Amino acid sequence: MKNTPIIELRGIKKAFPGVQALDGVSMSFFSGEIHSLIGENGAGKSTMIKIIGGVYHRDNGQILVNGEEQEIEDVTHAQNIGISVIHQELSLIPDLTVMENLCLGIEPRRGKTALINKQTMLKRSLEIMEPLGLKINPREFIRDLKTADRQMVEIARAVSRNASLVIMDEPTSSLSSREVATLFEIIKKLKKNNVGVIYVSHILSEVLSLSDKITVLRDGSLIRTIDASEADETMLVKSMVGREIKDYFNKKEKKIGEIVLEVKNITREPRFSNVSFDLRKGEILGISGLVGAGRTEIIRAIFGADKLDSGEVFLNGEKVEIRSSREAIELGMGLVPEDRKLEGLMLEASVNNNVSLPSLKIRQKHGFLDHKWEFSACNEFIKKLKIATPSRSTLAKSLSGGNQQKIVVAKWFAANSNILLLDEPTRGIDVNAKSEMYALMNDYAKSGGSIIMVSSELPEILGMADRIVVIRQGQVSGVLDRENATEENIMTLASTIKNEKREVTL
Ligand SMILES: Nc1ncnc2c1ncn2[C@@H]1O[C@H](COP(=O)(O)OP(=O)(O)OP(=O)(O)O)[C@@H](O)[C@H]1O
Ligand SMILES: [Mg+2]
Repeated sequence: MKNTPIIELRGIKKAFPGVQALDGVSMSFFSGEIHSLIGENGAGKSTMIKIIGGVYHRDNGQILVNGEEQEIEDVTHAQNIGISVIHQELSLIPDLTVMENLCLGIEPRRGKTALINKQTMLKRSLEIMEPLGLKINPREFIRDLKTADRQMVEIARAVSRNASLVIMDEPTSSLSSREVATLFEIIKKLKKNNVGVIYVSHILSEVLSLSDKITVLRDGSLIRTIDASEADETMLVKSMVGREIKDYFNKKEKKIGEIVLEVKNITREPRFSNVSFDLRKGEILGISGLVGAGRTEIIRAIFGADKLDSGEVFLNGEKVEIRSSREAIELGMGLVPEDRKLEGLMLEASVNNNVSLPSLKIRQKHGFLDHKWEFSACNEFIKKLKIATPSRSTLAKSLSGGNQQKIVVAKWFAANSNILLLDEPTRGIDVNAKSEMYALMNDYAKSGGSIIMVSSELPEILGMADRIVVIRQGQVSGVLDRENATEENIMTLASTIKNEKREVTL
């Protein structure tokens, strides 16, 4: 006899203004099974998870919980019936501490009073984090944590709630190799304890190594559900995209010219010190290293977003002091930050306004933004990057995670800058859109632009970069040319511990 699924969806439909996000999807999730959900940006993965998690209500169809038809009223109801969700946008409360977040809703009280027992809370938090190998101070505020640590706290909270179904929407996008390994151990333990897991990711090697079953969604419809043992990457890409992707990186022959940017001994204690490298016209310079090595801090400081303690920056041979991001933009630079929600995007503004924002000054006509330009630039990037949006006036907050990321990148390509600093630019972007973005980057470099790209995905760095600067613990540990750049060489330079290598793909 077949088991009863923990959750069964039958013909689920959900529409938003201008899009049918889910168009009659039926699928089942079982105990002790790791079921991955893959598909292009905007395919409907997060929408489906939000319906199961009580964030959205379906328009049509049935939901069965342990075999019985039920409404999932809201988030609390979902938690009460054993569904625990790690959403794509982090849901921790920044102004509370780690332990307050871990115990949110289940705070230990002092006797029968309403007073919270901080001591017990502290103990409980340590008990939750310890087996997961997390060394985070429970008294620290979430807002002061690095993205990766926030993500681990979120994961710890979700798995500590004794759920029967744990759902993870792109949980690894900001984790280092060691944390990814920890997470995989956690997932395997959940499976052993007969918990069901739904796992969403764009990293297909992760999906293949973890899953029992894989379901592919495309444009709100279920394309297929397959046993992971019968799947391979080529076939998954084909199901997601509807075709094979050839020439993934779109690397082009080009001329690399004179030095446009040079940093000499730049230092910002305690994050990085004595960092020196240069960037040439038409070059794509990769910055590699482990998460936390200081890569983000280095490019933020070059961009003027953080202050330098010492060191020099030269633009086209001239010494400059970039004291703010505004000055950097005026000097022709652009930055795609790591944390798009916090820094890269105006969520309450339209796609249009987001794309044209850095160009406001340069694209003026009689003191106003040139709307004809805005119109065509925005249309051009919607088309080039396949941004799934009902219109140019749709608010950024209603786009899927990956499509928001595409806008953050598009606005700098539209802004006519000469130097782009890209921090994990393809994080959360599907294979097809990645390939399009690589093509844009290569076109940009071919036409004389220069790019510094921080990326944790080794194949991406190897496929795209003309040279690679490797950072280890805030210092340059080596610079590799295309000829001698291999995953092994990068990892040796990047790690203090040998063989700490993250599984990466495409
Ligand atoms: N709150 C909302 N308001 C309007 N449209 C929405 C909303 N949430 C999602 N959508 C739309 O529904 C579609 C599916 O989005 P969803 O977030 O489910 O995609 P996804 O598969 O998770 O993509 P990604 O890989 O980018 O995270 C998209 O076209 C998106 O723009
Ligand atoms: Mg999503």
